[in-house]
Amino acid sequence: MKKVLVSGIQPSGTIHIGNYFGAIKQFVDMQDKYDTRIFIADLHSITTVQDKDKLKSGTINVLLDYLACGLDPEKVVLFKQSDIPEVTELAWYFNCITTMPYLERATSYKDANQKAKEVTVGLFDYPILMAGDILIQDADIVPVGSDQKQHIEYARDTAQKFNNTFGEIFKLPEAMILDSVAIVPGTDGRKMSKSYGNTIPLFGTDEEIKKAVMGIVTDSGSDIPENVFNIHKLFRGEDELNKIYKEKIGKYKELKELLIEDILNFIKPMREKRKMYEDNMNKVKEILENGKQKIREIVEEKVKIIRDSVGVNI
Ligand code: TRP
Repeated sequence: MKKVLVSGIQPSGTIHIGNYFGAIKQFVDMQDKYDTRIFIADLHSITTVQDKDKLKSGTINVLLDYLACGLDPEKVVLFKQSDIPEVTELAWYFNCITTMPYLERATSYKDANQKAKEVTVGLFDYPILMAGDILIQDADIVPVGSDQKQHIEYARDTAQKFNNTFGEIFKLPEAMILDSVAIVPGTDGRKMSKSYGNTIPLFGTDEEIKKAVMGIVTDSGSDIPENVFNIHKLFRGEDELNKIYKEKIGKYKELKELLIEDILNFIKPMREKRKMYEDNMNKVKEILENGKQKIREIVEEKVKIIRDSVGVNI
């Protein structure tokens, strides 16, 4: 029996090569080894996106991105969070055994509290809904970025609390932290991140990609432009690169042009796949519908057990 891997993704706008190497590729690489279930966290998104068209297009766009990058709907259960509304029911049971001071300790809440005047109940409760996502599926492993690590702790604590209160119902999930595996450098040498404005878009136009690469910060004092090299390593073997970079000492522009070429070649098949799905929305909807059916079958029995344990089944 394969271990159950569960993860949720929030639509984040345009994805960049840091998202790809830091997270998406790793999901793709794990899909054979684990019983993988990936969902689009549309309910979580409502904490920030309160416009139906934006929510819908955001959901479709992440789905297209992940399909284009190689998530295989035949291997992975791919669905949207709102297709298991029982997750919100479960979050309610959890809410009733969770204290306010405990949730006030969440870093995500503290950060939001500092920025916003008033935090919504939904945002405050974010970790509990996330515990619902994870625990309803008896997840063994939850791959997430390091910013989500504390949320997995919340899921574990909540499982334990529920088990102590209502009986041994939930498995304790383990976090698998993704960032440390691949910290992708941005165009300024810091970690690639939208908030630093140092990204190279994955599905951008040729022009956008060229502009980002040409903007990589180079130190004119050194022979080898390290920032270019470190990004280039993601697309070509290091031995080969060492040779090329030695031959072209000081020729920053040529090296950048070669990097652009390598990036464009690398993403060509992904772009084609994305286009194929974009032109075939019925297929995309069918994937979501199949995912919904599969996941509903998976959680059906668990939902019964949970309701029995709480006492809402007579
Ligand atoms: N909070 C996660 C993020 O922003 C998304 C998410 C929602 C999630 N539910 C989850 C991740 C359950 C893993 C498991 O990245």
